[in-house]
Amino acid sequence: MNAISKSSADYSPDAPEIPELIKAILTEYSGIPEDEIVQHVQEVRDKGWKVFQYPCLGVYSFLNLRIVDAPQYQDVLQHVKNGATILDLGCCFGQMIRKLVFDGAPGENVTGSELEPTFVDLGYELFRDKQNLNAAFKTGDFFGADVGGLKGMSFDYIFAASFFHIFTWEEQVEAMSRAVGLLKQKPGSMIFGWQTGSKTPRLRPHDAARSGEMYSHNEQSLEKLVSEVAEKTGVELSTKVDVVGRATSADSQDDDEWRYMRFSITRC
Ligand SMILES: C[S@@+](CC[C@H](N)C(=O)[O-])C[C@H]1O[C@@H](n2cnc3c(N)ncnc32)[C@H](O)[C@@H]1O
Repeated sequence: MNAISKSSADYSPDAPEIPELIKAILTEYSGIPEDEIVQHVQEVRDKGWKVFQYPCLGVYSFLNLRIVDAPQYQDVLQHVKNGATILDLGCCFGQMIRKLVFDGAPGENVTGSELEPTFVDLGYELFRDKQNLNAAFKTGDFFGADVGGLKGMSFDYIFAASFFHIFTWEEQVEAMSRAVGLLKQKPGSMIFGWQTGSKTPRLRPHDAARSGEMYSHNEQSLEKLVSEVAEKTGVELSTKVDVVGRATSADSQDDDEWRYMRFSITRC
């Protein structure tokens, strides 16, 4: 799984298109000359691909700063500017963290958590901000005894992009219960994000899943999963799920079941 197989449909050998939002960060925040960005991004992406072959690295979709598409983004950003705290769960290179900071969030209110320390280091390399970024990164297994270094912490917001979907149903119940346990104990604290889904919910074999399988949701199955989490944690939760279109990743080319979905799970 960890060997580079550059023929994979999930790996683009081509130079990346650099979306405007991240280009602004790489030039204005990181100070990288515009004509060096493509090669720089490709080099860092290739180092990440050697660590683990996530399609979001292989096809450069990590460059799309989808946190801004969340309907809650501007509200969340404003609250974080005013002292609220946010965790990016499974943050990879921490690209959403840089977007928050670039948009004015104080770094000390922002935390990233990640299984792979090398992804965090590659994030510093990508954004050239090891000396100036004061966001915290916690590394470790979110399923571990210390909850990936987050045990005892709490957050107003938890952002999770392409995170829960890489696990089986049972793993998602556990991961989401742990995330609920990290929310501040007050109404309005919220987990939000996006992930792939499926027109018909199903367990799919997938290389990006550590167990080899991932449970892919539609609106109803995700709501059902959250109600299991509410029962398990004893926390009342309200869920909003929006399917926002057909997924366009390499996976989906011969399978029109794939979807993208946005979700928010809020403490009542
Ligand atoms: C599919 S990637 C998504 C990355 C990022 N959120 C994005 O949208 O580009 C899933 C991320 O979760 C991390 N991850 C996977 N299993 C984890 C675990 N058990 N604990 C903490 N992080 C984990 C991976 O290393 C990877 O960075």
